[in-house]
Amino acid sequence: MEKKRILTGDRPTGRLHIGHYFGSLINRVKLQDQYETYILVADVQALTDNFNQPEKVRKNVRELVIDYLSCGIDPEKSTIYIQSMIPETAELTVYYSNLVTIARLQRNPTVKTEIAQKKDLFGESVTYGFLGYPVSQAADITVLGGEIVPAGEDQEPLIEQCREIVRKFNSIYGEVLKEPEIYLSKNKRIKGLDGNEKMGKSLGNAIYLSDSEEEITKKIMSAITDPNRIKKDDLGNPSICMVSYYHKLFSSEEECKQVCEECRQGKRGCVACKKQLAKNTIEFLRPMREKRAYLEAHPEIIEKVLKEGTAKAKKEAEITMKKIKEAMKLNYFE
Ligand code: TRP
Repeated sequence: MEKKRILTGDRPTGRLHIGHYFGSLINRVKLQDQYETYILVADVQALTDNFNQPEKVRKNVRELVIDYLSCGIDPEKSTIYIQSMIPETAELTVYYSNLVTIARLQRNPTVKTEIAQKKDLFGESVTYGFLGYPVSQAADITVLGGEIVPAGEDQEPLIEQCREIVRKFNSIYGEVLKEPEIYLSKNKRIKGLDGNEKMGKSLGNAIYLSDSEEEITKKIMSAITDPNRIKKDDLGNPSICMVSYYHKLFSSEEECKQVCEECRQGKRGCVACKKQLAKNTIEFLRPMREKRAYLEAHPEIIEKVLKEGTAKAKKEAEITMKKIKEAMKLNYFE
């Protein structure tokens, strides 16, 4: 049986952190063995809210791919490509824009939340491009025949919107497109060093896959612990301590148990606990850091992965586009 096709990707706007790692990257590494996987570097989508920062987007294309390969995404199994190099996506976005209303886009919960967060950029009036990015994302998915989209909950409204566009297209022009499904990651969201529900760049509370040993240690030393614990022999409550929270991710089960017990009994100070966590986190991330250093010294590898991936994706997109234009009676001069 043919493998089903996965289509997923990220906006290249910054380096990836452990929240991304536990949230989506480990999933992708696992799924690439079971599915035919395409991963797009969504530079066009990144420009919708970074149109004034083209250098930032360009630089992060490479950074993102280095992060992907460092954490085990294998370019032999996953096709990694650049969104802007597939102009069929832009073309298809124009055709899809007839099949979606402005009101429907304005009601999209993900878009709504993002617009509210981006008041600095958009002021009182959002751009046409940003409001329409779900349409472009629907084109990303369908132009490559994506059937499964592994993503977090925040992407659910976007996939639903894509499904609506597909149904509308098929009902008007004929059954050409596949309706994709979301593959929701069951992994829970990783909290920030400050205890915030979300780890994120703008919040300044993230540990990056690319952080140096010194940076990791410094960040962990600043993590929020039980605020009621002032002296070492105060009895601690690990369930409200970020250090104990991260021990569960990076330390052995035995160590976690011991750390929590000693904290509750006031036998272990926070500094010692943090040092132990920093050591384990550094070890956990070491293989990724080493791979990253190697890839940084060999930019030709990243270039080759992107070139080959993009060429493969482009061919697929051309095939789909031909079918779409036939269905829409746009196949002139044939
Ligand atoms: N919306 C995704 C993000 O915010 C990026 C993305 C663009 C995407 N096109 C996609 C994800 C297609 C899955 C499928 O990072």
